[in-house]
Amino acid sequence: MKGIILAGGAGKRLSPLTRITSKQLLPIYNRPMIYYPLNTLIKAGVKEILIIIAPEKAGEFLNLLGSGKEFGVKFTYEIQDKPGGLPEAFIIGESFLDNDNVAMILGDNIFEEDFSEHIRSFKSGGRVFAVEVADPERSGVVEFDKKMKVLSIEEKPEHPKSNFIIPGLFIYDSRVVQFAKELRPSKRGELEITDLHKRYLEIGELDVKKISGEWIDAGTFDSLLKANQLAKEKLHKGLII
Ligand code: G1P
Repeated sequence: MKGIILAGGAGKRLSPLTRITSKQLLPIYNRPMIYYPLNTLIKAGVKEILIIIAPEKAGEFLNLLGSGKEFGVKFTYEIQDKPGGLPEAFIIGESFLDNDNVAMILGDNIFEEDFSEHIRSFKSGGRVFAVEVADPERSGVVEFDKKMKVLSIEEKPEHPKSNFIIPGLFIYDSRVVQFAKELRPSKRGELEITDLHKRYLEIGELDVKKISGEWIDAGTFDSLLKANQLAKEKLHKGLII
């Protein structure tokens, strides 16, 4: 299993903080934000990690993270020239992935959950997670029946059909590169990760697992503040990096 951390984008919603540095390098309690998703992958046993970054801040990521030796893993870097949607990461990462399975995590997603078992037991298809939130309209929403059979997946719907969202850790088999290439941009002009989930759903190979640990997408001022509090209260103790 290879890992990708997507840490591109301009972080406009966090300006002027993101005029100092990239969103994923902003401090969350006692560490730069990217340490948390990185920790999630390393803790789960992922050893080869591609970090996708925006050109303007590439040097800062390299200075901070280096080769990965310090963390006991190997980092590879790729530049995303301009944000074109999350599935682009698999296209950018094609040669790095080299037909292996992949766990992609978003550089601003902070998880309490330990994913080791979910990653170790993964064989093929797609595996995503569902977490209950109060504001599902901000994310990709998943609706399922009592047996966890998925009924619908919608990207940021105005009227969400459930309170469960799909957070930013996605596990896919090697077909994801081809599937990503076949996607067409949505109305907002980007490739959508929810369309990839739907692709695996259509062929009956999407596995959705509920998680109960806390999850934060630290992309707004309020969620950034919440992430700092969560990190102070619980997360920093469990960090291995
Ligand atoms: C993206 C995805 C969304 C997912 C979310 C998790 O949204 O498009 O489906 O639920 O990440 O953080 P973004 O927050 O990048 O707008």
